[in-house]
Amino acid sequence: MNLDFTYQNPTTIYFGKDSLDNLERELENYGDTIMLAYGRSSIKKIGLYDQVISILEESGKKIVELAGIMPNPTYAKVQEGVNLVRENSVDLILAVGGGSVIDCAKGISVSAYCEKDPWKKYWLDFEAVDNKIVPVGSILTLAGTGSEMNGGSVITNDEMKLKMGRVFPAEVNPKFSILNPEYTYSLPEYQMLSGIFDMMSHLMESYFSGKDDVTTDYLIEGLLRSIIHSAKVALKDPKNYEARSNLMWSSTLAMNPLMGLSKTQDWQVHMIEHQLGAYTDCAHGMGLAAVSLPYYRKIYKDGLDKFVRFATQVWGIEEEGKSKEELALAGIDALEAFIRECGIVTNLKDLGATEEMLAKIANSTVILGGYRKLSSEEILDILKTAYDA
Ligand code: NZQ
Ligand code: ZN
Repeated sequence: MNLDFTYQNPTTIYFGKDSLDNLERELENYGDTIMLAYGRSSIKKIGLYDQVISILEESGKKIVELAGIMPNPTYAKVQEGVNLVRENSVDLILAVGGGSVIDCAKGISVSAYCEKDPWKKYWLDFEAVDNKIVPVGSILTLAGTGSEMNGGSVITNDEMKLKMGRVFPAEVNPKFSILNPEYTYSLPEYQMLSGIFDMMSHLMESYFSGKDDVTTDYLIEGLLRSIIHSAKVALKDPKNYEARSNLMWSSTLAMNPLMGLSKTQDWQVHMIEHQLGAYTDCAHGMGLAAVSLPYYRKIYKDGLDKFVRFATQVWGIEEEGKSKEELALAGIDALEAFIRECGIVTNLKDLGATEEMLAKIANSTVILGGYRKLSSEEILDILKTAYDA
């Protein structure tokens, strides 16, 4: 049964090789001052920075730059952006990069005119947004987070050692996002794989919860199969447009309220990874992969039928002659085999974790859960398993 829901998505998506051609027309909708927000060096290396600057200049815009947005963007970086927006009365934040750049832009967007302490109001107390929102547009260069068409903004407070995610209402979504799969050709394999596991994890977080027969679970199975297929193609042939375009659109669909609509969800893997990231600054998708295997092996009995379905519908495992438990475990084994075949990280030591971090990560992890709520001891157990993997 589908639960009741309201769905609205105001992001205009321009998808394809020529999608940047739409930027000039979009810019007509905003005032004169544009804040160009980007990461460290990738958009300059692929020539995108020069292209965007020339479109902005030809459109007669005043450009304010916020450079150096780091992976796992910090609240300090949000504050730097807030100051720039206020000093220059910025009319649009144009985020060019991966999820970190777009998340940081959304963080700035809601914080710039917030009269209270934005960190506390928005990322700790999850209060509603009641101040002016500076519009954001995005040009995506890394497929994974889905930030280009959602209201998510995950920000790390370095001083507090907290990485907090927040899904803002649709008003905070990028107004438009330009998705050219060719921009992802230059991704290092490590980052491509991190994005691929991230999009898979978003789907599994929605899937592993609930026992009802719901439309969304069928959509998730299809998207997972598409991602698994395209990941293997893109690994062998990084400039395969078909595979890259499938990965890019799948990731946009995966982390969007659409795939969680009408059903209960899990999100425990993300909660553990967020704290792992707060301590290690690891690539988000790699952290998710390391945590997922021990997590699913711990909870599969609580959602046995769904894990059986995962094995048969996602991985194509034959049912005949196998018990439900054997099938469920075979599905998780297939996930592990895929992770290993691709070269995705499974060991926390490879992500910079030390033994003494584990208890701190476990104790600061938010408890959610799809089939069952874990105790902090069980989370520590998962982390120890991933540490020794
Ligand atoms: O800094 P630059 O030089 O741009 O390099 C980046 C960065 O080092 C590089 N990169 C990006 N596009 C590239 C490229 N390198 C070469 N060619 C390109 N085309 O990749 C590195 C990682 O970028 P980042 O933006 O950090 O990666 P990702 O897109 O995976 O974003 C991760 C962040 O998003 C959050 C994560 O927690 C993490 O903080 N998430 C956001 C979500 C949301 N908004 O809904 C949901 C997710 O679950 C996730 O939590
Ligand atoms: Zn994620």
